[in-house]
Amino acid sequence: MGLVRGAGAAALKLRNPFLLVYKGLPSGGARCEEPMARILAVANQKGGVGKTTTCINLAASLAAMRRRVLLVDLDPQGNATMGCGVDKHALERSAYEVLAEELPPDRAVVRVEAAGFDLLPANRDLAAAEMTLLQARLREQRLRLALQRVREDYDWVLIDCPPALGLLTLNALAAADGVLIPMQCEYYALEGLTALLETIEAVRASVNRGLEVEGVLRTMFDPRNRLANQVSAQLLVHFRDKVFRTVIPRNVRLAEAPSHGLPALAYDRGSRGALAYLALAGEMLRRAGAPVGLATAGGAG
Ligand SMILES: Nc1ncnc2c1ncn2[C@@H]1O[C@H](COP(=O)(O)OP(=O)(O)OP(=O)(O)O)[C@@H](O)[C@H]1O
Ligand SMILES: [Mg+2]
Repeated sequence: MGLVRGAGAAALKLRNPFLLVYKGLPSGGARCEEPMARILAVANQKGGVGKTTTCINLAASLAAMRRRVLLVDLDPQGNATMGCGVDKHALERSAYEVLAEELPPDRAVVRVEAAGFDLLPANRDLAAAEMTLLQARLREQRLRLALQRVREDYDWVLIDCPPALGLLTLNALAAADGVLIPMQCEYYALEGLTALLETIEAVRASVNRGLEVEGVLRTMFDPRNRLANQVSAQLLVHFRDKVFRTVIPRNVRLAEAPSHGLPALAYDRGSRGALAYLALAGEMLRRAGAPVGLATAGGAG
């Protein structure tokens, strides 16, 4: 499968027209080494693969493990905002003002009390920001510069990307240490990966040398589906230990919870979906060499 093999030299091919954005940019500066938040872009330009569901539920799970978490909604759809119980139509301050450099992030952040993490909310204004930014200086670095100001306040920052490889996703990739790629194990899922990997490669070659693929997450997984198992096996062949061992099952509680403005952990703590995202948070913390324990169980912080 040429899909992953081709990714190494991909930046040169400019198969994705948006990569033209990088021409003439200053090359990637050194990243800060201090122990600060690990910033993850949750990205896949394919729509409906579970990016937002992963952001909300992973944020809640990390918070339950006593981590200080900021969830950045970088999608004009505002689904992460609504899913956290924040009305996107009533925002006075949002990610738009932060990207437009009108506000520092901490002035726009709201607390999601039910889940114990912070949210930088978004709504359709962000689509306007994307247009305005096209003309702006350092247009793909706005989020990175903004997050530098709050990075010490958090252990994890998760950025919910829109389903496109546009300027908003580029801002997320430029700001991130790693990319978490949610994938539904179906036939066309693999095709989209090439463009995403090319974009990651181009960002690495230009503004963010340290960007890594944090991991590929199998979402909405149905083990009875033969194709899903085949695609999953292919993913393991090509991404090996980059594929999270935790698999997120298809679970109706995960789909219901956002309509109550809650993560699954707050909506139905014992549901398979909530438990799967807790397992994912545990896997990520273990990978990072950190102690794992639930806050309510008096575990390690
Ligand atoms: N594991 C799951 N089980 C059942 N339903 C799920 C699961 N994960 C996500 N969903 C549902 O699938 C739909 C798409 O999920 P989600 O919004 O998280 O995807 P997305 O990648 O963020 O979409 P978009 O590209 O539009 O931003 C939603 O209705 C969500 O509730
Ligand atoms: Mg989404």
